[in-house]
Amino acid sequence: MALLSCVQCQKLPGLFGNTLIHFKSGLVVKKIKQNDNVLFFYNDSKKWLMRVSNKQQFHTHIGIIDHKKVIGKQYGNAIKTNKGKIIYLLEPTIYDFVMKSQRSTQIVYPKDLGYIAARIGLQSGQQIIEIGTGSGSLTTFLASIVKPKGHVYTYDVDENFMAIARKNIEKAGLVKHVTMEKFDIKNARKVPRTNADVVVVDLGDPWLVVPQARKMLKGSGAFVSICPTMNQLEKLVTALRQNDFFDIECTEQIVRTIEAREGKTRHSFRGIGHTTYVAFARKVTTPKELRRIVTTDSEDIDSDGSKLVEDESLSSQKK
Ligand SMILES: C[S@@+](CC[C@H](N)C(=O)[O-])C[C@H]1O[C@@H](n2cnc3c(N)ncnc32)[C@H](O)[C@@H]1O
Repeated sequence: MALLSCVQCQKLPGLFGNTLIHFKSGLVVKKIKQNDNVLFFYNDSKKWLMRVSNKQQFHTHIGIIDHKKVIGKQYGNAIKTNKGKIIYLLEPTIYDFVMKSQRSTQIVYPKDLGYIAARIGLQSGQQIIEIGTGSGSLTTFLASIVKPKGHVYTYDVDENFMAIARKNIEKAGLVKHVTMEKFDIKNARKVPRTNADVVVVDLGDPWLVVPQARKMLKGSGAFVSICPTMNQLEKLVTALRQNDFFDIECTEQIVRTIEAREGKTRHSFRGIGHTTYVAFARKVTTPKELRRIVTTDSEDIDSDGSKLVEDESLSSQKK
């Protein structure tokens, strides 16, 4: 078998199984093997995410992609179709898994996923509860960050959606970091788990489950909800205020794609329109006598009935 040279220094490395290790630098160069995921990239609109199988030949309008040619190559290499077209072999990222997932419901898009992660301080090791698994797009993203010690517990009422979500999560290699159960949050007497770092709710009427979300969260834990319309946001925020949540914020994430070409760089004509609004809040565990009720007209009322200065979280919403 011919040894491939190190991609960095071009010297011959040692070969262990499917992994090349360069003795001097310790650099690990992975070779693509059977069942690995590869993003076959031709151009921005023609890219396919597939699991490599040496028996598969994939027919496209630019020719046949023969999986046999891929095995033993490194990510970043290229192959040619039988029509001579060059296809790059890219290692899929979580973005690719989300965008190429099978969809049975509306999903949460990367532009919103990124802000959600930053706003809640998503990190490895956290325990997340998700209500409304849908197609598992958000589940996949959350699990990719909280792993290996953290976990996502996700609940849905629709078994057909759950089956598709399971396939998407499995494809991204995240099954062991996710527990999925059939559970109807609106009609349940008890909550399925407690003490979560984050509770995410993606249902049509999230305001109905705010008291349950509160029970499932640890003190100071973050609540997130996906609300495609402003009417949903209004009802949700009212419920959050009534249930002693603070640090409330509602956002819309707008991303504009730029077509960068020398001398004629401009905004793209294509782009994602409205996806959703996102609501955030934090649970406080103040004893009743110390509570402030955050009113809708931006005045706080203290436990003794006196009015307080405007709450900071609300003044930022007014700007
Ligand atoms: C918009 S989808 C969630 C999409 C998901 N966030 C994603 O990124 O793929 C909403 C989901 O909530 C589920 N759902 C509706 N009512 C529910 C309830 N009472 N308890 C649990 N899940 C529910 C629906 O079956 C549906 O799958």
